[in-house]
Amino acid sequence: MTREKPKNLWLSRWGFILAATGSAVGLGNIWKFPYITGEYGGGAFVLMYLACILSIGIPVMMTEIALGRRGRGSPIDAIARVVKENNGNPLWKTVGIMAMLCGFLILCFYVVVAGWAFAYTWKMLDGSLTANSVEALGEVFAAHNANPWQLGGWSVLVSLLTMWIVAKGVQKGIESAVRWMMPGLALMLLVLVGYAFTSGSFAAGFDFLFTFDASKITGEALLAALGHAFFTLSLASGAILVYGSYIPDGQSIARTTFIVAICDTCVALLAGLAIFPVIFANGLSPSSGPGLIFMSLPLAFQQMPFGTAFGALFFAMVSIAALTSAISLAEATVAYLNEKYGISRFKGAVAAGVVLLLLSLLAMLSFNLMAGWTPLGKNLFDWMDYLTSRWMMPLGGIFMVLLAGYALRGDIMRDELSLPPLGYALWLFMVRYVCPVLIMMVFLHALGWLGFDPIAKWYWIAGVIGLLAILGELLRPRVVPALAGR
Ligand code: PHE
Repeated sequence: MTREKPKNLWLSRWGFILAATGSAVGLGNIWKFPYITGEYGGGAFVLMYLACILSIGIPVMMTEIALGRRGRGSPIDAIARVVKENNGNPLWKTVGIMAMLCGFLILCFYVVVAGWAFAYTWKMLDGSLTANSVEALGEVFAAHNANPWQLGGWSVLVSLLTMWIVAKGVQKGIESAVRWMMPGLALMLLVLVGYAFTSGSFAAGFDFLFTFDASKITGEALLAALGHAFFTLSLASGAILVYGSYIPDGQSIARTTFIVAICDTCVALLAGLAIFPVIFANGLSPSSGPGLIFMSLPLAFQQMPFGTAFGALFFAMVSIAALTSAISLAEATVAYLNEKYGISRFKGAVAAGVVLLLLSLLAMLSFNLMAGWTPLGKNLFDWMDYLTSRWMMPLGGIFMVLLAGYALRGDIMRDELSLPPLGYALWLFMVRYVCPVLIMMVFLHALGWLGFDPIAKWYWIAGVIGLLAILGELLRPRVVPALAGR
C-alpha cells in the first residue's frame, strides 16, 4: 500500500511550528491558566501542571502529530488510514471521531470567551473600563454577561471570523498572522510583567505561583492539571492532528513538539506573573473564577502610562491568540467535511458555522437567560468545558497512546518519528507505560473507585503497569510475515 499523498502542506519550514503555537497559545494560557491556578491554590497546581506537560503532554503531542502526518487528513480520515495500513481493528477509528467532536464542542464555548477578549479591546477604548476598584470592574463584567445581545453579538462575531478564515484555507492566513502575532503577544506580556514587578506585590504573586504546598496536591487538582495540560497544548481534539497532517515529510516531530510546548508554557507562566501581583496588590481574591483577568487587568492598565493604548493592544493580542486557536478547532471539522463529502471548504465552513452558532448560543445563554438552568449542578457552558477538558481529552489521549504504543506495528511510528534509538525507546516507554498509567490513575481517582490519594499508593501503579503490559501483548497485531516487509 502506498502512503497517502498530502493535499495541503505548510508553506514554510516554520509553518507548522507557528500554526501549532498559534493553536496552543490562546485563552487557555492567558485566561484559564491563571484562574484555575487561583482556584486550586497556586504553586502546587503549577507544579502538577508542569509535570503533566512533560510526562503526558509532550509524548501525546508527538504521537498525535505522527498519526496525522502518517494518515494525511482530517482526524477521522487520518486515523482510519493509519489503522487500515496496520490491518487493525476498525473500532480504533472512534479515536478520530471523538477527537473531532471534542474539538468542536470546545469551539462552542471557546467563542464565547474569545468574545470577552474582543469586547474588552473595545471597552478599553470607549472608556467603559475606567472604574477604579475591582468590585466596580466586576460589575462591568457581570453587566456585560447579563446582556445576551451584547455577549451573543461578540461571540457571533468571533464565530463568523473563525469560519471565514477557515473557509479561505488557513495556510496563508494563519502562517502570516502568527508570524507577527506571537512575538507581539510575548512583548505585551513582558511589558505587563514589568509593570507587575513595580506593583509592590510581585513577591506575593511570585510566591503564589512557585511556592509549593504539598497539602494542596489533591486528586481533584491533579485531574484539573491533567485536563489543562491537554487543553493548553490543543491535544486530543483534532487540532494538532490535522495541523500535523500538513507537515512535510522529513521535518523533526520531536523538535517541533518541544518548541511548541516550551512557547506555550512560557506564555502561561508569564501570564501568571503578570496577573497575580496585580491581583494581590488590589486585594482581589485569586480564586475569583473565569472573570479573573477581566476584573484585574483593566485596573493595572489604568495606573500605567499610556494604559489605555496598552490595554487595548493587550486585549487585541488576546483576541488574536484566541482566534488562531479557534481556527485550529474548526479546521478539523471543515477538513473532514471537505475530504469525506467532497464539499468545498467554503460550504463546509458554512455548515459547521451554523451548528457552531446554535451550540455556542447555548453556552452564551448560560450567563444570562438560562443562568438558572443547571442540570446536575453546572450550567451548559460549564458542562461543555468540564466534559471536554476533564473527560474527552484525557480519554482521547489515552486511546491515542494505546493505539500508537500497542496496536500499531512498531515500524509505523518509528518511521514517522525518526528518532535516534534512545529517543525512540524513551517515547515508547512513555506512551506504553507512563501516559496510560498516569491518565488512568487520575481517572480512577476521579471516579472515586480508589477512594484515596493515588499518588501515595505505589503498588497500585505497579498493578496497573502489569495489567497494561498484558493488555499490550493482547493488542499487539499478529504481523503476517508477507506484510511485515512492506
Ligand atoms: N490550546 C488552546 C488554548 O490554550 C485551546 C485549544 C484546545 C485549541 C484544543 C485547540 C484545541 O487556548
